[in-house]
Amino acid sequence: MGNDLWETPKPFFDGVEDYFGDMDIDLAANFQNRKVNKYFDEKDNSLKMDWNSYNMGWLNPPYSKPSIWLDKVNDEILKSKDLEVFMLLPMTFESNYYHNSVFNKPELVNTIYLINGRLSYLDENKKKVGSPRFGSCLIHFKRDFNREIISFGKCDREFKSVKLI
Ligand SMILES: C[S@@+](CC[C@H](N)C(=O)[O-])C[C@H]1O[C@@H](n2cnc3c(N)ncnc32)[C@H](O)[C@@H]1O
Repeated sequence: MGNDLWETPKPFFDGVEDYFGDMDIDLAANFQNRKVNKYFDEKDNSLKMDWNSYNMGWLNPPYSKPSIWLDKVNDEILKSKDLEVFMLLPMTFESNYYHNSVFNKPELVNTIYLINGRLSYLDENKKKVGSPRFGSCLIHFKRDFNREIISFGKCDREFKSVKLI
């Protein structure tokens, strides 16, 4: 996909923080698009870093390589009891990587929030990229057996969830 640098819209990110609390780190970013003061960029290579000194990690990864990022999230969540990762991904639920690293890992996934409407991501010049061809979801990774499976979110500051299961 040509959207590896697409930035999360700030109102959505603010809504996530309002709802879940402040993030400690942006796990895939650069200086211009970071959502949190502390961030890992390509040079740091987040995939090689330890994440276990953080509690709340924000992750909107490059969308061309979702499986390597999902593998990394799985590893880090397994290693750390206190780490929570909030990962924004396209809703391509038919993909192997969703089945391998999300649906078949209920012990690592707290909730999947299906976002109502399409997020208006921003390009490198902070311009809206238009309506993407895909919906997005927010996956809350946390080692937790007291979990919800699916909820609904709304893509603005009024981020809300409805418990289905
Ligand atoms: C989809 S953008 C997300 C930007 C921002 N974090 C946000 O949520 O708006 C993905 C970012 O990850 C960065 N990136 C790519 N490979 C990375 C790596 N191995 N480690 C850390 N960041 C990486 C890219 O440079 C890009 O800025």
